[in-house]
Amino acid sequence: MNAVPITASPPTGSLADTMRALDAWQGTDEPYDFPYLTLLGHLRAVGKHFLAEELLDRLAALRETLPRVAAPDSLPRGGEPSARFLRTFLDVVLDKHDGRYDYPSYTALPLLARPAPGPWHEVRRVRDETLLLLLADLVRFEQRSLGDDPVAPHGMPPRGDVVAKRIRLAVRVMEPAALRILPPGVVDPSAVAAVPGRTPGGPLARAVLRTATAHDELVLSASMQPVYVLHDEYLFLRTLQSFEATFSFMAGSLATAVRCLGENRCEQAATLVDAVAGVLKESLPLFSLLATMRPEAFRTFRDFTEGASAIQSASYKTFESLCSTPAAARLDSPAFTSVPAVRARLLDGRPTVQGTWRDLAAAQQLAPEADAALDAAATRLEAVHQRWKQTHYRLAVRMLGERTGTGYTQGVPYLASVLENRLFPAADRDSALVG
Ligand code: HEM
Repeated sequence: MNAVPITASPPTGSLADTMRALDAWQGTDEPYDFPYLTLLGHLRAVGKHFLAEELLDRLAALRETLPRVAAPDSLPRGGEPSARFLRTFLDVVLDKHDGRYDYPSYTALPLLARPAPGPWHEVRRVRDETLLLLLADLVRFEQRSLGDDPVAPHGMPPRGDVVAKRIRLAVRVMEPAALRILPPGVVDPSAVAAVPGRTPGGPLARAVLRTATAHDELVLSASMQPVYVLHDEYLFLRTLQSFEATFSFMAGSLATAVRCLGENRCEQAATLVDAVAGVLKESLPLFSLLATMRPEAFRTFRDFTEGASAIQSASYKTFESLCSTPAAARLDSPAFTSVPAVRARLLDGRPTVQGTWRDLAAAQQLAPEADAALDAAATRLEAVHQRWKQTHYRLAVRMLGERTGTGYTQGVPYLASVLENRLFPAADRDSALVG
């Protein structure tokens, strides 16, 4: 069996090169030999929105020849890229062609999803590993843009000072995860405690990428499918994907917290809610990182992202609705009609942290210490989430101004309207209020 030819970055292939590579591949027909990097090099050189019809038709026909395998929730981390991986990859490449383009396909989430292991420490490890790989890849891309051999997308390359700032901010988000899961010595915990973000970015990124399997490298490449050719869209996509890895951990851990409460293991539930707050807090500098995106670059490539908006993030809405059941007004607004599967589960009735917690209190089954621990953790999560929403709002004002959102809301006015919602509304107040 041939090894998958994985290198850190795809070459910039022309349409003719790509068609030739597909011809050669159809001779072998082995999923692990698919010319992923040639196709991705071409895609990034022209932008997914601008792929030629001839190429799209060819890829669609080729996808038809692949065996249909029932899609599980997530793809395994190791092993050879399979027919299932190739089909999922082609579904992402062909989203616009198929008329299925949306936020999950724009951010290539089906390629990044990983099996969720049980205990919450393991779930956090998966989040940490994914986040470190995504941000190490971003650091590598940013550094390369300053070298003699930059890789696509190359449009509007940033200045050296902007790259240095980006790397510092990426490192800030990486450090806590690196301290948890990398071998001792890669990151100095006392230096991080003194001044976060000072770990040298290049060596940290290299240490992370040394842990990457060939399959991880393929996933990193395959999950970078910008719609246009501007450098900053790489930053945008990796930031969204990093938040998604975080939301996925948050949703998984809160589901476990609800189960713990159902079994009256309240201290453990409090630990989980607190861990969720901690990881969201660590992720906040991702917004500072994204704020280095040039608004003019964003406004250019977003012309081709219409229909893909993080309002369609199932993980975010799952996390939110595991805290408490959103009010009917929010459930019937674009906030939840944009995530129909999450909404359907809620309408079916789904236990929440606040609901089970209140039930225990009403049944007088809650020890005062457990109640206090839960209260402290929920208060912390609420505060961090309010900061998340405010920072997101300010970023949107800066990048978007008065333009409408790509998720078909009015944009900034929608985000202003959700600021007053709470994850854990007071008993005498209706749940999440609007929008
Ligand atoms: C340039 C940066 C960003 C801008 C301009 C922006 C803008 C917007 C807008 C206008 C909406 C409303 C829905 C729509 O019409 O699209 C929205 C919703 C949302 N965005 Fe962003 N966003 C940005 C970055 C991010 C990032 C990095 C994330 C992290 C995944 C994110 C997560 C969300 C979520 C979860 C919602 C739904 C909020 C809700 O329904 O309450 N956004 N964003």
